[in-house]
Amino acid sequence: MDSVKAKREVERLRGEIDRHNRLYYVDARPVISDFEFDKLLERLIELEKEFPELVTPDSPTQRVGGEITKIFPAVVHKEPMLSLSNTYSIDEVADFYHRVEKLVEAEGGQLPEFVAELKFDGVAISLLYRDGLLVRGATRGDGTRGDDITSNLRTIPTVPLSIPVSAGPLFGAQGSEVEVRGEVFMRKEDFEKLNEDRTEEDRFANPRNATAGTLKLQDSAEVARRKMSFVAYFVNGLDDQSMSQFSRLRRLEALGFMTGGHYRLCRNMDEIAAFIGEWSEKRLKLPYETDGVVLKLNDASLWDRLGATAKSPRWAIAYKYPAQQARTVLKSVVFQVGRLGTITPVAELKPVKLAGSTVSRSTLHNFDEIERLGVRLGDHVMIEKSGEVIPKVVSVLLDERPPGTATIEVPETCPDCGAKLDRPEGEVSWYCSNEAGCPAQKTGRILHFSSRNAMDIQNLGASLVEQLVRRELVGDPGDLYRLSREQLENLERMGQKSAQNVLDALAESRKRGYERLLYAIGIRHVGRATARELAGACPSIERLRQAGQDELAAVPDIGPVIAASIRDFFSKPWVPEMLRKLEEAGMPMHADAPKALVNSNFEGLSVIFTGGLQRHDRQAASELVLERGGRIVTSVSKKTGLVVAGSDAGSKLDKALKLGVKVIGEDEFEGML
Ligand code: IVH
Repeated sequence: MDSVKAKREVERLRGEIDRHNRLYYVDARPVISDFEFDKLLERLIELEKEFPELVTPDSPTQRVGGEITKIFPAVVHKEPMLSLSNTYSIDEVADFYHRVEKLVEAEGGQLPEFVAELKFDGVAISLLYRDGLLVRGATRGDGTRGDDITSNLRTIPTVPLSIPVSAGPLFGAQGSEVEVRGEVFMRKEDFEKLNEDRTEEDRFANPRNATAGTLKLQDSAEVARRKMSFVAYFVNGLDDQSMSQFSRLRRLEALGFMTGGHYRLCRNMDEIAAFIGEWSEKRLKLPYETDGVVLKLNDASLWDRLGATAKSPRWAIAYKYPAQQARTVLKSVVFQVGRLGTITPVAELKPVKLAGSTVSRSTLHNFDEIERLGVRLGDHVMIEKSGEVIPKVVSVLLDERPPGTATIEVPETCPDCGAKLDRPEGEVSWYCSNEAGCPAQKTGRILHFSSRNAMDIQNLGASLVEQLVRRELVGDPGDLYRLSREQLENLERMGQKSAQNVLDALAESRKRGYERLLYAIGIRHVGRATARELAGACPSIERLRQAGQDELAAVPDIGPVIAASIRDFFSKPWVPEMLRKLEEAGMPMHADAPKALVNSNFEGLSVIFTGGLQRHDRQAASELVLERGGRIVTSVSKKTGLVVAGSDAGSKLDKALKLGVKVIGEDEFEGML
């Protein structure tokens, strides 16, 4: 193909892909299959490979991700990203309405109109377009400064990579900057898929947490896989600053943004109340989560004059819906067995609609919780879902207790393997005593081993592991590396392709390193941070096995409980065999030679992170300290060198201040790097 023809074809393909993207994501009425869509994209990728001069920054091929970002640079917002004042009360919404009415009157305006919009439950971000091209995408951060996460945001199909500069008079001159603000979120369905194959400890609590976590990932290819969406609700930098909010939303739609479409112009308080009432149920059927209604004064020419408090504009307010509760009946209680043998009681409920889904199960945590609630089989109970995906039983309707309810007994034997249960002194939980043989415990240990923070073995989900254990093809993590292609191909729902994927993922997991392996083998009380500490003190598993209780207790951050747990682990009869298999499989049984330091700015310092950091995830921040000669510890003591406190830092910060340990914020931390 000559380059003229190629150019025409590339343009046609881009037009088609954009159109189908829009039909799929914005209008929710796809007209071609995913397969046909992928074909279009593949064809475009091929052509761009052959004619690299035709690649443009806004080509749909530029969304696939792949860029790795170590640190997200800080950006200063053109205008501060304010928050909204919140209320749960309609009366307060009415107060707000009348306040604005008075202010507007004082400005000589007409009766105010408001745009009622849904309040999307996601993460606020800002997109900057220069000459129509997306040049920067940032998080809200502290409102003034956020993180530049452009490479991650580019992977989101509903973030337009370009907008027509000639989109009418409002986008007038070239060289103009337009800022669009909105919310990134995960659709309920995509969120559930993401969580399905994670172990209990790795699961995100709700779509908002999953979104926030994903936006901070350093690998944009992984971000692309996680499927997020963007909805726009605000635009700045229009030539016509007085354009009403309603028209702005319409304009955003014309430019290719998704707004959700569920907004309405309200002329008085009754119409506002009607909108709030109408959406309290309807919102639950939406494919994404919303937690309230936002009211914005439609006449934007008054916004500046009404101004803002330190945190929020005076011309807008958010009404939040109360947490969703429902009443139902506790039918029975089943007992789940975790990787350490812990027995967790799970309530089986009479199915009931709650927050848009049907709930038939909920956790009861442990037997102390059952006692605290005073709940009996057959009781009427209230369940609640507040942001979390898993609902919880919050109370028992004692007045309505029917006759014939029964107490919930601690089972006598393990529900999975029938072994006897123990309750160690001072613990709230019961444990299955058949540690080596219980299939549920084996499954749990293998899932922990393969989980994201451990060996991160993709494609090895819960149902596959259960099957492998049930068929006695694997009993411990070491057996995974002995699986043959035939064994995998013969499993339910496995083809050649998926079997190969599992084998590839297993091979890939060999590269994760010693520290991760120390965490993955599942020693009780040894989390990622402790594993790192141990890896430094004992550079091989053999060395760790030989370490005495006193030697272990001398390692910073490792107290007598963890030391005893490590000793206990190595004394288990099945552990040596598992380690032998892992070694045979070529897993990293010892530490690499120490890496050269980036600098020695943290030399000899033990550092603790507490609270949420804006610009790094915990893991990345810890690595930055390690590369600079520091150590990471997890509990504050007088010996702690430095506490880096992020937003919402809690008890660790209090303790540090009490002990006089040096505390710094994220900015100062960055300075130290
Ligand atoms: S407008 C100055 N509109 O809610 C106006 N915010 O509690 C700023 N949010 O930070 C925001 N849906 O993350 C606006 N339709 C909507 C929204 C919305 C969700 C979020 C946003 C904001 C937070 C305030």
